[in-house]
Amino acid sequence: MSSEYNRKDHLYHKAKDEGYRSRAAYKLLEIQQSYKAIPQGAHVLDVGAWPGGWTQVALELVGPKGSVTGIDLQALDPLDDPRCKLIAGDARDLEEILGYPGPCFDSVISDMSPKLTGIKEADQAGTVGCAELALYVAQQLLKKDGSFIVKVFKGGEVEGFVKSARPMFNKLIRSELKSTRATSNEFYVIGLGFKR
Ligand SMILES: C[S@@+](CC[C@H](N)C(=O)[O-])C[C@H]1O[C@@H](n2cnc3c(N)ncnc32)[C@H](O)[C@@H]1O
Repeated sequence: MSSEYNRKDHLYHKAKDEGYRSRAAYKLLEIQQSYKAIPQGAHVLDVGAWPGGWTQVALELVGPKGSVTGIDLQALDPLDDPRCKLIAGDARDLEEILGYPGPCFDSVISDMSPKLTGIKEADQAGTVGCAELALYVAQQLLKKDGSFIVKVFKGGEVEGFVKSARPMFNKLIRSELKSTRATSNEFYVIGLGFKR
């Protein structure tokens, strides 16, 4: 069985049929179904947003009064929705790009991953680095009581990352998703009630 065949699993096809830009859309839907992390009317920051599956789902979840700001190194195709702002740039520069607005988002969500090199240690360090960057961004831009969702991978320094995030939230949940591919060792960390 070729890897190309595996890549195009049933969620890949479902995403195509339902107009989502990526199969990752179903991961955010699954997280929301279980934890209700994104409230109606929320202003959401989607870090590492390309091609935009999570951004599309977040726009559905926040409803007419909410908004979604997405940033990625890779430029996203426009979504033609006045509630949506898309930025091509590095999340490291986000505060500066936004003009140092302070805490202004109700939810910070990150599905960021680095370009994989195939070198296990380097890739593990890169993925934890992305999670740490997302947490740093949340510390600058997430409102008190806000929610945080971040992708991480088992192994390496991930336990240290989870430990460092735990005291920042009223509740911190680790969640392995049904919509994650069976071959992946990713899981998601969901923080509710940011303490600031
Ligand atoms: C798995 S994809 C995100 C998929 C997306 N959530 C969706 O639903 O379509 C991970 C993204 O993280 C982005 N990324 C990695 N490091 C970044 C950084 N420092 N700043 C912004 N985006 C970054 C990559 O460019 C990549 O597009």
